[in-house]
Amino acid sequence: MTYKSMPKVELHTHLEGCAPPAFIRGLAQEKLLDISGIFNSDGSYAYRDFDHFLQVYEAACTTLQSPQDFYRLTKAVLEQSAAHGVVYQETFVSPDFCGGGDMAAWRDYLAAMETAAHEAEAEFGITLKGIATCIRHFGPDAAKPSALCAVETFGDFITGFGMAGGEMAGRPGDFAYAFDMAREAGMPLTCHAGEWGGPDMVADTLRDLKVERIGHGVNAIKDVNLVAEIADTGVTLEVCPGSNVFLQATGGWADHPIQKLRDAGVKVTVSTDDPPFFATTMTDEFDMLAQTFGWEDADFKEVNETALAAAFCDDATRAKIAKRLETA
Ligand code: ADE
Ligand code: ZN
Repeated sequence: MTYKSMPKVELHTHLEGCAPPAFIRGLAQEKLLDISGIFNSDGSYAYRDFDHFLQVYEAACTTLQSPQDFYRLTKAVLEQSAAHGVVYQETFVSPDFCGGGDMAAWRDYLAAMETAAHEAEAEFGITLKGIATCIRHFGPDAAKPSALCAVETFGDFITGFGMAGGEMAGRPGDFAYAFDMAREAGMPLTCHAGEWGGPDMVADTLRDLKVERIGHGVNAIKDVNLVAEIADTGVTLEVCPGSNVFLQATGGWADHPIQKLRDAGVKVTVSTDDPPFFATTMTDEFDMLAQTFGWEDADFKEVNETALAAAFCDDATRAKIAKRLETA
């Protein structure tokens, strides 16, 4: 039994992190860049732990140097996602990796991604929205121009603001200026927390950044009162079980907290994060949830509906995707 063809809604991916290693190797060859150290002998990405993963990720990003590179990346990523049944995807894109915070460059990169997204929608039947993202370990000062880029391009494609990167760098409140800017512009917000940090990191993120979604959030399980608060307030968790298991942020699949969080009434969704880095796909995620926790069609339907309700898109897009889920 495989859930490959079931339609899926995926909220938490990093665009560069979805790049197949062969794609990045091809770009490196074209540009005569030697990044051979980031690959294993079998061609997969090579890293030791999460901090090293971030370094390898940034090395891979050095091959993505132009809007055209991001056009090709977006097209390749969406073809892959659609092959696994994803009908709606949100992806983190950072001004830091798209022109280094320069507004004019950022607009050019976005235009290229949007062109690719429109083509992919027509060719593969998948809709993409972007979440402009600051990178936590680049620090609070770098987050401000990223938020400005987000605010200036908030619209049909960039539909939210978020933060990725090394979660243990600083405290959430250090980034309040950037998140306040985005919120005041009306942008919906999400932030990685509780992947590496404890429940205190999730609680501080909710209090200081006032986000409506949390990236990962799985360590909230260690505080029963926080779990109840998350359930009561309706904050949605972007859970990425395969990523957590691969990076050992949690125990193995059988010990993953997604089931307990869901049982406690928390809105959980399922995503891949950076699929080629973690040897996963949305099909694998669904299949493993079925195998490990006995999830069936009705459970996946509910998870898809939860994700669509929490999606950072306009209502017309939400209605269009809802129809695709209904008629499947
Ligand atoms: N950037 C890419 N993947 C990430 C992850 N899983 N956590 C934080 N930052 C990331
Ligand atoms: Zn992530």
